[in-house]
Amino acid sequence: MTTQDDRPYSPGLQGVVAGETELSLVDGANGRLLYRGYPIGELVAKGTYPKVAELLWTGTWPADAHLACEPLDARVLAGLVDLPNDAHPMDALRTAVSAWGAGHRIDWPPTVEQARKVVALAPSALAAFGRLRQGLEPIRPKPELDLAAGFLYQLNGVVPDEASARALDAYLVVAAEHGFNASTFTARVITSTRSDMASAVSGAVGALKGPLHGGAPSEVVSQLHQIGSPERAEEWIAGAFDRGERLMGFGHRIYRAYDPRAAALRQVAEQMGSIADWLKLAVAVEDVALRMLKERYPDHPVMTNVEYYTAAVLQGIGLPSDLFPATFAVARTVGWTAHILEQAAVDKLIRPDVLYTGPSERSLPTS
Ligand code: ACO
Repeated sequence: MTTQDDRPYSPGLQGVVAGETELSLVDGANGRLLYRGYPIGELVAKGTYPKVAELLWTGTWPADAHLACEPLDARVLAGLVDLPNDAHPMDALRTAVSAWGAGHRIDWPPTVEQARKVVALAPSALAAFGRLRQGLEPIRPKPELDLAAGFLYQLNGVVPDEASARALDAYLVVAAEHGFNASTFTARVITSTRSDMASAVSGAVGALKGPLHGGAPSEVVSQLHQIGSPERAEEWIAGAFDRGERLMGFGHRIYRAYDPRAAALRQVAEQMGSIADWLKLAVAVEDVALRMLKERYPDHPVMTNVEYYTAAVLQGIGLPSDLFPATFAVARTVGWTAHILEQAAVDKLIRPDVLYTGPSERSLPTS
């Protein structure tokens, strides 16, 4: 499509290059995801979320990095206490980030120290809301625990076993960053106005809340429950195709090969003894689904996406499925804040043109 002055217009900005980044490469054709050049599989195998955060914020790969959850100050906690128990967990997270921003002077330009604060606040806020909505008291974080273990501790009131903490940490690494997706772009637009980091992260949470972006790994769980056993997979999937439904956890706008995040998380899931039966079902159903999708779309690969094994890992560590999207947001705070720092360094207002499609110039009615 072209505009009046022959400039091309692409709905949804699809295919438009809208910026530059050194943070990640999303190579959909070849199924690669690199953070500052390092493949996601290697980062999961050899890294931790705090190390990956430092990599994305500063470009360094520290020998060790520790990032503990931040205790919530009274103002943030009061905001969460006031929410209805059935509030969307993403709304709770957005409220907490916003209240934090209102209570502190979050100056321009954004800093790595601000990024550490907001990333360390997010799991505490989500865990506190997870308890408050059940009528339980929030728990102060233990400073010796890293973010993944600290989140589970604040949510459940017990220090998690090492395998669960490691599995969640791996998920946080995998979900930390993914190019110019809608929420990251939102954060960059807000930052480009020289607004503060809390505003940019709140806006990003709002964008991620939408079902077209935040995804639905919990739907993978319900799909597998409905299928029930590997023997029923073929019949169930054929029925879903007949009803015009999509298989949850398959297909991606960018990846035409196996989503590298799904591959990395599958390895993590395979090391989790607690979900052995469930994983067996997931793997068996995946095999059938991939075969049937290939038969249905021989020229257009529709492969496993990150949500399929996200569901396995998050369910395996006992997280309630309605917290899955907000846990994704917690993970993505690292990517958002890294992009906020990168955008602030560019310091260029993002303000595209729009194609006017209204009436030509005219006079107001006389009466
Ligand atoms: N099940 C069945 N058919 C599918 C699926 C699927 N999961 N995914 C794509 N297709 C079909 C489409 O219906 C389309 O068929 P058509 O040409 O007959 O209309 C064809 O494959 C091509 O579709 P794409 O161009 O590959 O898909 P698109 O880019 O429009 O959509 C999306 C991508 C939304 C992720 C889609 O694959 C989908 O709905 N998947 C299921 C939901 C899901 O798993 N979402 C999580 C994505 S990962 C994330 O967001 C972090």
